[in-house]
Amino acid sequence: MRRGVITTLALLICCCMSGPLLAAANYPIRSIRIIVPFAAGGPTDTITRIVAERMSLALGQQVIIENVVGAGGTTGTIRAMRSPADGYTLLLGHMGTHGAALAVYPNLAYDPAKDFTPISPISRIQTIVVARPDLPVTNLADLVARLHAAPETLKMAHGGVGSISFAACSLLVASGSEHRPTMKAYQGTGPAIEAVAAGQADFLCDQLVNAVPKVRSGAVRALAIAGPSRSPILPEVPTAVEAGYAAFNVAAWNGLFGPKNLPPDIAAVLARALDKALGDADVKRELADLGGEILAPRERTAAELKKIVDEEVARWKPLAPYATQR
Ligand code: MLT
Repeated sequence: MRRGVITTLALLICCCMSGPLLAAANYPIRSIRIIVPFAAGGPTDTITRIVAERMSLALGQQVIIENVVGAGGTTGTIRAMRSPADGYTLLLGHMGTHGAALAVYPNLAYDPAKDFTPISPISRIQTIVVARPDLPVTNLADLVARLHAAPETLKMAHGGVGSISFAACSLLVASGSEHRPTMKAYQGTGPAIEAVAAGQADFLCDQLVNAVPKVRSGAVRALAIAGPSRSPILPEVPTAVEAGYAAFNVAAWNGLFGPKNLPPDIAAVLARALDKALGDADVKRELADLGGEILAPRERTAAELKKIVDEEVARWKPLAPYATQR
């Protein structure tokens, strides 16, 4: 009799534990998709692929990348927001999708601070201004002078309105004349930097991880790092501060998100797998060789990513009323 009662109670407890807790207990039971809201070959795609490969090992399931492009990364971000909160669809978001987009899309279909579950930040990346090799400018001051004098003669490439590359170069352009250069949008800075190298556009403000190979090969010319510190992997490139433009300071960040209401136990499984990937010596080296700085373990928390997003919303949302026609 006693054994029967215990068995029945155990079964009852199991039945009551259905849903999130049981899901986490077995999670993941199939492949996981990370939406990269930009074209393959760009900085967001590159970083995600490096990290996803190691997360697959830690989780025992394939972590696959799906590039969902358009509207400066907001198309893919909206797709991720509308996905089931089951841990099988995630998003690689960043300073553009969860910050700058607020300033250019007054009616953005999502709230970066409310419509996602922050899992962990991943890296910080310096921004570099590059130009096509035959543009008659040799430094940042030359480019700004030309932006002041004849902006209509310049074509600015970017990864879509609201992207990091768009926001960074808009900051540079805004420091110049009221006239703006011709804006050439691409589905990410993978194709954007190819266009600059091919002479189809004149300059681009890109995340360092994407520009390093093309600067080193001479396919594009580096003009400046958009910040106060030189890059250890391109030490010959001067900073915007050295060029006299201290206000041109753009440090990109990125992180892993799930849709809102992701069960905490599932988020914890993902955070552990991501932390293991970011602690991998090969991952650190691969990203460092491209100018990516992985955050320290104490910063790789959901709370830290939430803090970053909250600060970005406070920084960019007030600019929305001034969103002008691009
Ligand atoms: C951007 O914000 O410009 C994107 O990150 C570019 C990209 O990743 O392709």
